[in-house]
Amino acid sequence: MTQCILFVCLGNICRSPTAEGVFRALAEESGLEVEVDSAGTSDWHVGDPPYGPMQLAAKGRGYDLSALRARQASARDFTDFDLICVMDEKNRSTMEALRPAGNKTPVQLFLDHAEGTGPREVPDPYYTRDFETPITLIEAASRGLIAQLLRQ
Ligand code: 4NP
Repeated sequence: MTQCILFVCLGNICRSPTAEGVFRALAEESGLEVEVDSAGTSDWHVGDPPYGPMQLAAKGRGYDLSALRARQASARDFTDFDLICVMDEKNRSTMEALRPAGNKTPVQLFLDHAEGTGPREVPDPYYTRDFETPITLIEAASRGLIAQLLRQ
């Protein structure tokens, strides 16, 4: 059965659309069949494309995010997806507050899938202005999660 994975951050214009684009590209390369989407915990950027500087950095690393549009996460995502990967602990607690009673969909820190001892949260480039580090971290977590799903 095809796995459905949702990536979540605050605005859905920097980290989670990057995770969606990177994961989709690397999964396709690996032969893993998977459906991916992304969403924000806020409604601040609903309908917007990924943030310009984020798109530019991603393009430079070979990932085209231009077709993506922001949406807000909802309780329905817990039934529509098999796994929800969040970018930081605040995203995790906001998502947990939306969980329908009895629902068991895992909500995991995406970087827990990266090998080694790096950070556990993806730093928000909207504030740090470093758009490269998130891509590197997201690539590492994507490779880890893809390898795990291929073993299943
Ligand atoms: P993201 O970054 O959660 O990685 O999409 C942000 C984008 C926009 C804002 C905050 C974080 N904002 O305050 O508008």
